[in-house]
Amino acid sequence: MPELDTAAMPRHIAIIMDGNGRWAEKQGKPRLMGHQAGVKSVQNIVRAARELDIGVLTLYAFSTENWKRPPLEIQALMGLLKTFLESELATMVRNNVSLRCLGEKDRLPTEVSKIMERAIRETAENSGLILNLALSYGGRNEITQAVQAITQKCLTGILNPEVIDQAVIEQHLYTAGLPDPDLLIRTGGETRLSNFLLWQASYAELYFTEILWPDFRKQDLLIAILDFQKRQRRFGKTSEQAEQTHPH
Ligand code: IPE
Ligand code: IPE
Ligand code: MG
Repeated sequence: MPELDTAAMPRHIAIIMDGNGRWAEKQGKPRLMGHQAGVKSVQNIVRAARELDIGVLTLYAFSTENWKRPPLEIQALMGLLKTFLESELATMVRNNVSLRCLGEKDRLPTEVSKIMERAIRETAENSGLILNLALSYGGRNEITQAVQAITQKCLTGILNPEVIDQAVIEQHLYTAGLPDPDLLIRTGGETRLSNFLLWQASYAELYFTEILWPDFRKQDLLIAILDFQKRQRRFGKTSEQAEQTHPH
């Protein structure tokens, strides 16, 4: 396998962790078993991201649209999330991981939001990998709440509408202060964004793989990063111009 270029690593990797249900169905197991198996991939990929010295890893764990799933599946997912946070907190503290939550925290069951708040608090000072869990997250919702917050500030006179620019909008997103994702991976074979990071992914390199999330491991992440490193990011410029600003 070719070597990774350590000088050209993505600063921020975002992953749509899809395919848990199909993984389970393929083996004649209930969907929940797929979600359980998916937790192993989360642990493996978080460790890989640390080892690769990635700055930010954002994992799409539950979308605003996923609330439409059968109540039992939602309950099981929330239960898994709670156990995951409880069991991983010490590891995150030890490994200098800083946990954050992107999404409608107040829609999560209290027992989940409690442990989430605690994990965020206890890892807030950590300076290593920033791990964003996108939970009850929707890109359109995120932009809508940013518009509300900005409008509120304008109405109370804190903000002058004339100064609203892209930076102001960014400051009101869940990802305020973080770099945009450079590489966005979706497992499970679908080639859509499903309402993920709509603003932030404007210039992300998209990578789709058929691999179902419970089968996705460090090796697969390395392959995605290698693919990313072969691409030329032009940001609207010509090839020649891009070569001058980001030579290989
Ligand atoms: C992704 O796997 C996990 C969540 C959306 C919570 P799915 O549950 O969507 O798996 P498939 O797409 O049905 O295989
Ligand atoms: C996207 O997967 C959301 C997460 C992985 C959390 P879905 O399985 O919900 O997406 P759709 O419904 O196929 O677009
Ligand atoms: Mg799915």
